[in-house]
Amino acid sequence: MSRLTRQAASGAASGASAAVDPSLLSTAELRQALPLVTTRGLRVAYESGPNVLDGVDLDLFPGEMVALLGSSGSGKSTLMRSLTGFAPVTGGQVRVAGHDVTNLRRGELRTLRSEVGQVFQQFNLIGRMSVLTNVLTGALHGAGPINLAYGFTSAHRGRALELLDRVGIAHKAKDQARSLSGGQQQRVAIARALMQQPKLILADEPVASLDPKLADSVLELLREIAVQDGIPVLVSLHVLPLALAHTDRIVGLRHGEMIVSGRTSDLDAAQLAPLYADDADDTDDADADAAAHTAPVSAQASAPGSAPAGLARQEVA
Ligand SMILES: Nc1ncnc2c1ncn2[C@@H]1O[C@H](COP(=O)(O)OP(=O)(O)O)[C@@H](O)[C@H]1O
Ligand SMILES: [Mg+2]
Repeated sequence: MSRLTRQAASGAASGASAAVDPSLLSTAELRQALPLVTTRGLRVAYESGPNVLDGVDLDLFPGEMVALLGSSGSGKSTLMRSLTGFAPVTGGQVRVAGHDVTNLRRGELRTLRSEVGQVFQQFNLIGRMSVLTNVLTGALHGAGPINLAYGFTSAHRGRALELLDRVGIAHKAKDQARSLSGGQQQRVAIARALMQQPKLILADEPVASLDPKLADSVLELLREIAVQDGIPVLVSLHVLPLALAHTDRIVGLRHGEMIVSGRTSDLDAAQLAPLYADDADDTDDADADAAAHTAPVSAQASAPGSAPAGLARQEVA
């Protein structure tokens, strides 16, 4: 990223007026400098329950891999769902790839969803179908029933094979998806997401079912995609060392509020500890499990909901 682009990016992220006259930037630089995702004051509540997201301000820029951290129930999946119009937003703004997500007609919503690749903990493949067919289904996003009737073109097949090659499992193309290992299945799911030519990738706990070595390689692949394809990748994780090793930026939720936002290189486990601090309300086992998977969390817990010292909300782009 050029100096000018960096200036523009930091201006956009802090909400300050642009530090650089946009007319000085090329189109490519402008694309890099503008966030693809912006939420402001985002609130979500299910039915008449309490807010499960409360005032979340998030920016995601092209080419960056961002970790989303927080205990079980802190709102990570809900935040991801709100970016594709699947969460009941009760306040604030959500913009993704130029769409005003809280205000979309059905056709526009379908377009938005076709532009967002998703990767899940359980891979969500069709186990009895071939690896190649699973990847091809990525091309169905945004296609209406008429398109389906014509099946896949040879161009689709060529692209699916290229993507399988890119994720390192072209030799498995004809195998049944369920015959692959977990790590391989997640690579198929990533290839399927890429088949959509996504503008954004949301990966919700993508390595929670994988052993540590495979987790590293899958996260490395996702980061490579962010950089090479120039798209943001938002990845929720519950193992702190993985977030520290593989992401450019970390945002952290606690009880639906974003209490951590910073460059990964500026953060350490102690600064992230408040995300997992004990709380009288947090009694479910999943939280204990999440804390157990973190790096040494030795810092004193700060008051619930407070940001750790030096980590003001939205402090760093
Ligand atoms: N469909 C739903 N209906 C009602 N409450 C929900 C629903 N989905 C999530 N929640 C609640 O919203 C909160 C945040 O959940 P979630 O976003 O799944 O957290 P995380 O992904 O961080 O574990 C939790 O209290 C959860 O119980
Ligand atoms: Mg979740």
